[in-house]
Amino acid sequence: MESMKDKVVIITGGGAGIGLAAARSFLAGGARVLITGRRQAALDAVTTAAPNLAGLVADAGVPADAKRTVSYAVELWNRLDVLVNNAGAGAPLPLVESEIDRLRSIYAVNVVGPTLLAAEAIPHLSTSGGAIVNVSSTLAQKPVSGFSAYAASKAALEQLTRCWALELAPRGIRVNAVAAGPVETAFLEERMGYAHEAAEAVRSAERKQIPLGRRGEPADVAAWIVALASSTAGWITGQVVGVDGGYVLV
Ligand SMILES: NC(=O)c1ccc[n+]([C@@H]2O[C@H](COP(=O)([O-])OP(=O)(O)OC[C@H]3O[C@@H](n4cnc5c(N)ncnc54)[C@H](OP(=O)(O)O)[C@@H]3O)[C@@H](O)[C@H]2O)c1
Repeated sequence: MESMKDKVVIITGGGAGIGLAAARSFLAGGARVLITGRRQAALDAVTTAAPNLAGLVADAGVPADAKRTVSYAVELWNRLDVLVNNAGAGAPLPLVESEIDRLRSIYAVNVVGPTLLAAEAIPHLSTSGGAIVNVSSTLAQKPVSGFSAYAASKAALEQLTRCWALELAPRGIRVNAVAAGPVETAFLEERMGYAHEAAEAVRSAERKQIPLGRRGEPADVAAWIVALASSTAGWITGQVVGVDGGYVLV
């Protein structure tokens, strides 16, 4: 992974799960990585004693934090090569229970936040000839009853990916996405609000459904985030790569 040497990478929501696995892969390739999250202690737990890994308390759903995040990475390392819009929000939300605050909180993190971060990053990514990688979900394509807000927000992120790819190609910036299938992280409990037993029931049902017979590991998805950010993908833009064990097919 020589092509990541000395590159500067921002990963939103990098303190755990897919974002942390991606951070470790970028670091292994020689990059310097800024991860964000909403809890200082969670960031400290992974950044302490990790050279070239910095943490910033910033919420992808808070508009003012976009500028702060990009500025901090540039202050630290004087450049920016890769933005990974990884932080996600979601909850089971049947249409009949729709409430403006719950809808806003999902779209703020999954759609508005990535947009503001990308906008702030453009001048720096133009200089470096950099890349944006958005983290979407199988649910962007696969309709699931009771998850319309989350699914539609990820479908929006995928269409943003294609539109930005066209808009930013003249600046030499590539934009791609990964659409992750079910992955072994705390997302079901911490983001979706499931109790542990209910989360285990969902996991068990998904394992039976996924054609390749298992839920993903964060590293399964992280490998493709890094690949799309690297020069290996130098002639790829506007694409959404499904990393899902075939889940989208069933
Ligand atoms: N896991 C899956 O099965 C799955 C499937 C498809 C797609 N995805 C997508 O993959 C991405 C990562 O999911 P994951 O499962 O790896 O996540 P996760 O393990 O639930 O969370 C990863 C990190 O994100 C941080 N975070 C959460 N909300 C944030 C916010 N608003 N701003 C900044 N940081 C935030 C959390 O720290 P704090 O709580 O301290 O902020 C946590 O450290 C999401 O976009 C998700 O939609 C996941």
